[in-house]
Amino acid sequence: MKTEIAVMTEEEPDIEAIEKAGEIIRNGGLVAFPTETVYGLGGDAKNAGSSRKIYAAKGRPSDNPLIVHIARMDDLYGITSEVTETAEKLAKELWPGPLTMILKKNDEIPSATTGGLDTVAVRFPSGRIAQELIKAAGGFIAAPSANLSGRPSTTRAAHVIHDMDGRIDMIIDGGDCKIGLESTIVDVTGDVPVILRPGFYSGSRIEEIIGKFSVDPVVKGEKTDGPPKAPGMKYRHYAPKAELILVEGPQNAVISKINELTAESIAKGVKAAVICSEETKDMYKNGLIYAMGSRNSEEEIAHSLFDVLRQTDDAGAEIIYSETFDTPLLGKAIMNRLFKAAGFNMIRLQEENTNDSTRM
Ligand code: TXA
Ligand code: MG
Repeated sequence: MKTEIAVMTEEEPDIEAIEKAGEIIRNGGLVAFPTETVYGLGGDAKNAGSSRKIYAAKGRPSDNPLIVHIARMDDLYGITSEVTETAEKLAKELWPGPLTMILKKNDEIPSATTGGLDTVAVRFPSGRIAQELIKAAGGFIAAPSANLSGRPSTTRAAHVIHDMDGRIDMIIDGGDCKIGLESTIVDVTGDVPVILRPGFYSGSRIEEIIGKFSVDPVVKGEKTDGPPKAPGMKYRHYAPKAELILVEGPQNAVISKINELTAESIAKGVKAAVICSEETKDMYKNGLIYAMGSRNSEEEIAHSLFDVLRQTDDAGAEIIYSETFDTPLLGKAIMNRLFKAAGFNMIRLQEENTNDSTRM
């Protein structure tokens, strides 16, 4: 399949190209497009055949449901059978934006789109290109992140072209995604909002609006008896080709441990890389060094994460040692992605009696 590429910016969307993309989706085709979080791989959410095509293009198991994207507040009522007060309050405060809400679905959405569940994930993204495209496509676009299943999400058009060229009808290149991490997913079928995937909006932001929230045990890395609430949680995710190991502890201990490990790897002929921060990058002695940004700018770190993971692939890294980034606001979301990318592989270093109190 030849994939058409349409280049535009959020400031100046190419409406003609967007109309064409909308027509492709209405006719059952697939278009990748930028959102404020990550690029999405869009198809008509009401067309079961389109959802099946999305699963095939991504190589994704078809029991892992898709998020339905809307561009008008009222459309939430067109695809759900019950909208709770909690959902209405969150929508009023946080939409359009990086929030996905899980609600009971109605018959407008085929079960192929929701992976057989009787609930549907709904999101109203804030980007202009996304909104214009959703409207042009008839109002409801099912879109997972536009990466091959298991790989890091796509935050730049080049990432999408790498994973999807030849597999879908069109890619809208709208530049880099602003946030760079996927939306916060919240189950709002009951009174207490339950976070199923941490994202740009934190639990405390949700608590400010609703007064309470809880976090699904799977997010905290705890094992549960039943199936996970967000089926995506059970799959390996965001993984670079290299083995990724996180190293946590006091800053100086982390740096010396990583220097030791990279030296060992390199001595064995293994191509090693380090993921760190702007502040520490000059302290690493061996291998390929990737700084994600300053620890004073969480947004920068979030924005770089998937791009850096992809850069390690391009460089042919075989093992990566990474600092941890449990920063105050976005740390939960960043660490959730890093943990999964590492398959929960982490070295925890003991406190030493040094004056260094900086933990990472
Ligand atoms: O920021 C985002 O949310 C991006 C952009 C494109 O909007 N989309 C995205 O989609 O991250 P995806 O498919 O990569 O991740 C969707 C997650 C999966 O973990 C899936 O299991 C969960 O949402 N999900 C979807 N529908 C669900 C439902 N009805 N109940 C529970 N979890 C659901
Ligand atoms: Mg994804």
